[in-house]
Amino acid sequence: MPSYLPVLVGLAHLQGAYAWGSLGHATIAYVAQNFVTSEVKTWAQGVLSDTSSSYLANIASWADDYRSTTAGKWSAPMHFIDAEDNPPSSCNVDYNRDCGSSGCSISAIANYTQRVGDGRLSAANVNQALKFLVHFVGDITQPLHDEALEVGGNDIDVTFDGYSDNLHADWDTYIPEKLVGGSSLADALTWATSLTAAINTGSYASSKASWIAGDDVSDAITTATRWASDANALVCSVVMPNGVAALETGDLYPTYYDSVVPTVELQIAKAGYRLANWLNTIYSENIAASSISKRTPVADISGADLLPPPRPLSKAKLARAAMGGSCGQHRH
Ligand SMILES: *[C@@H]1O[C@H](CO)[C@@H](O)[C@H](O)[C@H]1NC(C)=O
Ligand SMILES: [Zn+2]
Repeated sequence: MPSYLPVLVGLAHLQGAYAWGSLGHATIAYVAQNFVTSEVKTWAQGVLSDTSSSYLANIASWADDYRSTTAGKWSAPMHFIDAEDNPPSSCNVDYNRDCGSSGCSISAIANYTQRVGDGRLSAANVNQALKFLVHFVGDITQPLHDEALEVGGNDIDVTFDGYSDNLHADWDTYIPEKLVGGSSLADALTWATSLTAAINTGSYASSKASWIAGDDVSDAITTATRWASDANALVCSVVMPNGVAALETGDLYPTYYDSVVPTVELQIAKAGYRLANWLNTIYSENIAASSISKRTPVADISGADLLPPPRPLSKAKLARAAMGGSCGQHRH
């Protein structure tokens, strides 16, 4: 191995501290591009002012860049939902219990689903809504984005492939990058091509219908809660089936890595397929139908009515607040 490689890997480890890393989000976007209708493609390219063949992949990580700016700090809680369950013995998501009063991934998906198809907003607002939506439908399939324990695993210190980092970052970024061998858009496209084949005719062909069963853009809170519950269940069964302590000794590569990689691939494929179906449905039900004037009551476009009732801050919510709402920093 050339001597400069560990430096490059080290740099990569400092980036992408949020959510599925840029590789995961771009891959999800490319998978989605393969399943949207030609009308949705034309519409999305117009909204994003990007007629390239990477129109969704190019903006898939915008929300992570935005939240790390001063102006975008408010949006940090929308990347996750802190399910206050008790893995590995009990996993579950409860919207009213777990979504904080400033919002979470579920309320954000509902809000931007409403906003992207509403028809009353400015082009800039619709552009922002689509960029958020593409990102959050990805985040919600990462199991540790649906878990409060140890701030979504950010505070679980582990060793992966010789690096000291945390479990959350490994799931977001380093496990996918280890699998694919890079983090560029070209790497994402290659990965998306193979996942798309698996969805069409391969190992996912028989399960893909279940990934979108019951999805309903007119009840996005229920739909996104189901997506969050589906990923959260994997915290108990795959992410930490033997508890936290078992992850904190030894190197997670290769035994743990091998045990979770099929789930990482499944979740990325699932997110892309769901995203495409979601956009197709928003388009046919709301945008093409221009149904806003016919809908009663007309939606509150601030989304305020989507939030759960306020409740006192739990320990987990206080821990998240202490971290500034971020996904945390990597330690080396
Ligand atoms: C909905 O989106 C708008 C625009 O980004 C934002 O100002 C508002 O706070 C959001 N509402 C919720 C409930 O997330
Ligand atoms: Zn994110």
